[in-house]
Amino acid sequence: MTITLAIEGSGFTSRTHDEVHYFDHSLFLIDEHGVIQSVLEPDDERYDTEKTQARESGNYRAIAEGSYLLPGFIDLHVHAPQWAQDGTGLDEPLEVWLGKYTFPTESKFADETFAHKVYGDLVGRMLSTGTTTAAYYATVHRKGSFVLAQEANRLGQRALVGKVVMDDPAANPDYYRDASAQSAIEETERFINDVAELNRHSVQGVYPVITPRFIPSCTDEALRGLGELAEKYKTYAYIQTHCSESDWEHGYAYERYGHSDTHMLCEFGLFTSRSILAHSVYPSEEDMRVFAQTGAIAVHCPLSNAFFAGAVAPIRRYLAAGMHVAMGSDISGGYNPDLYGAIRQAVTSSRMLETGVNRDMAAGERGVMDSALTLNNAFYLATAGGGESLGLPIGRLEAGYAWDAQVVDTTFPSARLPIFESNEPASDIFQKILNLAVPENIRTVWVQGREVVSK
Ligand code: GUN
Ligand code: FE
Repeated sequence: MTITLAIEGSGFTSRTHDEVHYFDHSLFLIDEHGVIQSVLEPDDERYDTEKTQARESGNYRAIAEGSYLLPGFIDLHVHAPQWAQDGTGLDEPLEVWLGKYTFPTESKFADETFAHKVYGDLVGRMLSTGTTTAAYYATVHRKGSFVLAQEANRLGQRALVGKVVMDDPAANPDYYRDASAQSAIEETERFINDVAELNRHSVQGVYPVITPRFIPSCTDEALRGLGELAEKYKTYAYIQTHCSESDWEHGYAYERYGHSDTHMLCEFGLFTSRSILAHSVYPSEEDMRVFAQTGAIAVHCPLSNAFFAGAVAPIRRYLAAGMHVAMGSDISGGYNPDLYGAIRQAVTSSRMLETGVNRDMAAGERGVMDSALTLNNAFYLATAGGGESLGLPIGRLEAGYAWDAQVVDTTFPSARLPIFESNEPASDIFQKILNLAVPENIRTVWVQGREVVSK
């Protein structure tokens, strides 16, 4: 083991859902694989010698006063092609929005040159706002989807990438769907193998994801076939789909099968510890038990839930039930491409859920008790919670974890945060960063020890 990077700095990392640890001039020793070997505090006897040694070998770097280290963010729900329409078209319900805006946009990714342009731009943007790991839906096109995996790998982002499956001719337009269930399954398997090969040459990891868009766009034959692939490739492929996203989508599964989509995804072999379920706004008690028992991940996408679900997912109940919960931007159902936005929205939405929004009801009658998320809770979901639920050593600045980190400069001239006193409590600085930081504040980002953003 060789130390190739030693970073001295102050910052924040989650200990538990409620507790954020502030570290003060810790020395992070990072090895040639980009993994944190040890974290030394200033009173550690090895601190000075390790620092001197790193300085002499040219590996030492000090984070400036006023700048803080945070773990890189983990965004587990992103529709990469929708970056091309981000910020527009949220005037329709989900089922209309898909046909009116989204399928026309996604169909353009048959053109790999266009895919290259959009995907490179998005990955760069996400890295520069601190997102070091992302789970992406690409499009139905296998080759265009592979371009996304290549771009993430080239730019150094840890990425989970899926070729989208939507094969049902009754549910999808002829200009944008898989030719048949069989070809959807074959193309998915080829994609898995292509990405697995790319991953062999990757430092930070690029993982294939089996991606039925959601039950309403797939035939039973495709869902069954993808479930078989999930079993065959269970050691390295993930699974992702939308689950219980809106009243319409939630009701759809009941109408088609007489069961919830959670139940049906289980039946098809698509609900495992490697399943990443976007939204999950309306699970029943039984569905929640299935989540907890399988270890599947509910991805909280609070901004897009405001538009498509018109509801707030009761995250505290999910956590109390033992469910894995992570955070997602849901570009472009949620227009904010960075997880600072999702963290803020998670807190805001949860407050609305707790206090209720209807002024005509008496106090005490509105809202759902014990729903509010703190900034600490939301930060956990965007970092440690994401890592834990993926089963990867990411999301914490601790020994044994990947050096995925971002530097937030609170003194950057055009984006100075309101910190005026030298003895400002660390917890206040943390809250100011999460609530007020803008992209300019994020100056440096590493993924697996590699510096991928340096502004
Ligand atoms: N459900 C099926 N497809 C989509 C999509 O592209 N975005 C969102 N938010 N929900 C979906
Ligand atoms: Fe989505």
